[in-house]
Amino acid sequence: MPKLQRTQVGIVGAGPAGLVLSHLLHLHGIESIVLENRSRQYVEERVRAGVLEQGTVNLLTEIGVGERMKREGLMHYGIELRFNGHGHRIDFRELTDGKGIMIYAQAEVLKDLNNARVAANGPVLFEVEGVNIHDIDSVSPKIRYRKDDTDYEIHCDFIAGCDGFHGVCRPSLPPDVLTEYDRTYPFGWLGILAEAPPSSDELIYAHHERGFALLSMRTPQISRLYIQCRPDEDINNWSDENIWRELRTRLAADNDWKLIEGLVIQKGVTGMRSFVVEPMQRGRLFLAGDSAHIVPPTGAKGLNLAISDVQVLARGLEAYYSRGNHDLLDRYSEICLRRVWKVQRFSWWMTSMLHRFPDENLFDHRRQLAELDYITSSRAAAKTLAENYVGLPAEGI
Ligand code: FAD
Ligand code: PHB
Repeated sequence: MPKLQRTQVGIVGAGPAGLVLSHLLHLHGIESIVLENRSRQYVEERVRAGVLEQGTVNLLTEIGVGERMKREGLMHYGIELRFNGHGHRIDFRELTDGKGIMIYAQAEVLKDLNNARVAANGPVLFEVEGVNIHDIDSVSPKIRYRKDDTDYEIHCDFIAGCDGFHGVCRPSLPPDVLTEYDRTYPFGWLGILAEAPPSSDELIYAHHERGFALLSMRTPQISRLYIQCRPDEDINNWSDENIWRELRTRLAADNDWKLIEGLVIQKGVTGMRSFVVEPMQRGRLFLAGDSAHIVPPTGAKGLNLAISDVQVLARGLEAYYSRGNHDLLDRYSEICLRRVWKVQRFSWWMTSMLHRFPDENLFDHRRQLAELDYITSSRAAAKTLAENYVGLPAEGI
């Protein structure tokens, strides 16, 4: 017989969605247990996103986990679009009434959140096995799992599926209740982390005839750089020297700008897809973050979207527990999906504008360049990029 446990909200996954949700619930006096199948070290070292929208920065600050981010994060008020060898700055501060973005690695956000959960004695159980969920259409859904050779069953009021794209929660739903919207792109990103001071104060998104390149950073000593590659690219076929050569070529500018190179400390290939599942809830199961949607990284939105989902969910749970009002919970999927689709559109648009497509023709290429020219010469067009990049305002909560 499994050992029985009880909590109000069972959360599967200790990524940004799961940890922000458990911390928000704690601040509202709502109990949760977070189950994570990886180790804490693995989760805190995984190299992933690095751009936080203004709204994400504000939320992390409000919930008391923003202190180190404020100290160590790099606030940026613009990005550069580079094409035909020229750089063009999009000035976020001027175009969005003072908003910006914060460069602070996802892994650092997770360390801060884990520390906050530990300080509050909030249970986050790492290295659990065999997580599976049951009875989501009843008032007492259950999560079963195994840890240290013991079986457990948690009785909850609600389950939050924050277990990412490859998790167990979404596949636990009967396929006939879900509609999936999916697009995979015919390219991936080869990314490196390098011990090299960033060659620019701000991110550079480069359109080049050999393919897209991105210059980003993590700290004043560490650069994060990407190049468009084949979706099935074998990283072992790329020597560090070849990666630097390709970056130099694609990021080249017609002024005296130079790429600063250094020791490559991590490298990998990421696939690119757009994916949405509708609805994002069923009975007492709520999907949040990558378990419900994936965006290609060109808009830097994945982590931010995960956090905006759980803000909606936490509000709904708070209304339910404090006032018995389930209106927000009932509308969870509808509220989240409005934002999800706008962010999908933006991420698809940035991706389409900046990458080379294998089936494109000369017309498509010239149209991309005209679009970049328009974005960087029309205030109205630049404003639509800027307001999406810094993050659209929250709606419906
Ligand atoms: P996740 O961060 O995926 O967290 C889900 C958690 O659930 C994980 O810790 C996982 O181990 C756990 N889990 C999974 N299955 C189970 C199970 N069965 N039982 C228990 N736990 C489980 N976004 C950007 O904005 N910019 C980027 O540069 C960028 N780069 C990325 C690179 C990679 C390789 C990947 C995969 C994603 C990247 N993203 C990027 C996207 C961004 O990191 C995600 O959108 C964000 O992590 C979503 O948070 P989440 O909490 O929804 O999911
Ligand atoms: C990153 O720093 O990893 C990064 C930045 C911007 C993106 C994607 C990734 O659009």
